Amino acid sequence: MIRTIFIRVDRVLSPQKVMRNEQRRFSLGCRRSFCFPDNIHSGGHTIASGCLRFEGLDIQCQDMLIIHERRTLSIACCRDKDFCNENLHPALPPLRNSASVPHSTRPHYCIGVEQDETYFTPGETLKDSTQWSQSTGSGSSFPMVEITIARQIEMVKQTDKGRYGEVWMGKWREEKVAVKVFFATEEASWLKETEIYETVLLRHENILGFIAADIKCTGTLTELYLITDYHEHGSLYDYLTSTPLDPKAMLNLAYSSASGLCHLHMEIFGTQVKPAIAHRDLKSKNILVKKDGTCCIADLGLAVKWFSDKNGVDAAPKKLVGTKRYMAPEVLDKRLNRNHFQSYLMADMYSFGLILWEVARRCVSEGIVDKYQLPYHDLLPTNPSCKDMWEIVCRKKLRPALPSRWRSDECLRQMEKLMTECWAHDPASRLTALQVKKTLAKMMESQDITI
Ligand SMILES: Nc1ncnc2c1ncn2[C@@H]1O[C@H](COP(=O)(O)OP(=O)(O)O)[C@@H](O)[C@H]1O
Ligand SMILES: [Mg+2]
Repeated sequence: MIRTIFIRVDRVLSPQKVMRNEQRRFSLGCRRSFCFPDNIHSGGHTIASGCLRFEGLDIQCQDMLIIHERRTLSIACCRDKDFCNENLHPALPPLRNSASVPHSTRPHYCIGVEQDETYFTPGETLKDSTQWSQSTGSGSSFPMVEITIARQIEMVKQTDKGRYGEVWMGKWREEKVAVKVFFATEEASWLKETEIYETVLLRHENILGFIAADIKCTGTLTELYLITDYHEHGSLYDYLTSTPLDPKAMLNLAYSSASGLCHLHMEIFGTQVKPAIAHRDLKSKNILVKKDGTCCIADLGLAVKWFSDKNGVDAAPKKLVGTKRYMAPEVLDKRLNRNHFQSYLMADMYSFGLILWEVARRCVSEGIVDKYQLPYHDLLPTNPSCKDMWEIVCRKKLRPALPSRWRSDECLRQMEKLMTECWAHDPASRLTALQVKKTLAKMMESQDITI
């Protein structure tokens, strides 16, 4: 059995020092703190000291108090100077017999491995691996499979071009994965989004499943990868454009999106803590549709975390961000209280109201369905400015038009009520994600739809 010692250097290295360290595999990754220069194999043990690129793994100093099932790790920590891990020698706990060690025969997914090493047993799927990493007791949403996968992905076709780079459909063995490739200039965005995805307890069926993040250096080119589950239907925007809905399909899309948002917004306390997270760029293009007709929330690049005990937004956002068309009135007129985290959640709820409107328009009632349109399509130019938006949303206090046919359909009538309560001008009177989720659950029940 391979046993692994991880040693963390809890020290920020300057980029120059990082570049000088010839054994570093990632030219950019160590800026934030986690350094791992080498792997030593001795007597059946792998002693790894080097670079851990993400917080929240169960092999990090900050998590040492968590009792792990996996007793194959030992951690020693230091933080007094750069490369202080050179002289650390943590002792491994005594070996338990294999019957009492869960997963002891499984391959070890270790960070800092060489490119050609394979850590998967034949037939093992990504799902198996991510489930295993979740069941290790760390609760981290971050799977321990990242390095090997990132290096073995075959890029198949580009599916989209976004703000910070390109999105590709790739293949890992026979499984499809999505690869968001960030431009090298967008390292900060890649790091930010990765950091959000590796938040402890984030993993949820209605939040895009994170698989790995990696940096690939090919000569002069540096590519930053974010690898997630791939969803063939693409975004909710793509889906609505081409697909009319019946009430069941509409409620499935709405309920699952609300569940994802609810989980994102929710703070969880316990042996582990999940911060509340505001998305800040909710729109139909940032929600994906899964094969079973349910949704997952994606594009967490602008999200912010909040821990109530620390009483502050993780990195106090300097400027107001998001997609103009979906910006809440208080964002447009710059009255959003940036020191009050609930304000961000309420702004998300405004955007969510617009998404419910987009979905409801595509629901057929009495044989009629509306063509897909973006919110405010009839009131704004294609690329509206903040001033255009402010004029419509703040000064005139207009909201998307509600088709008269909705009033003669019970389900659409309730949807109308729900969306108007989400996009209320006064943020404090908007519904919370939990309230929306509960209302939609009741609506599904009355339609005999099982959740
Ligand atoms: N996992 C995925 N599966 C399928 N399509 C995806 C996936 N991730 C992103 N896309 C497509 O790529 C688009 C851009 O992705 P997104 O993460 O929103 O990047 P950006 O930050 O550039 O907006 C989405 O609107 C969607 O159409
Ligand atoms: Mg996006």
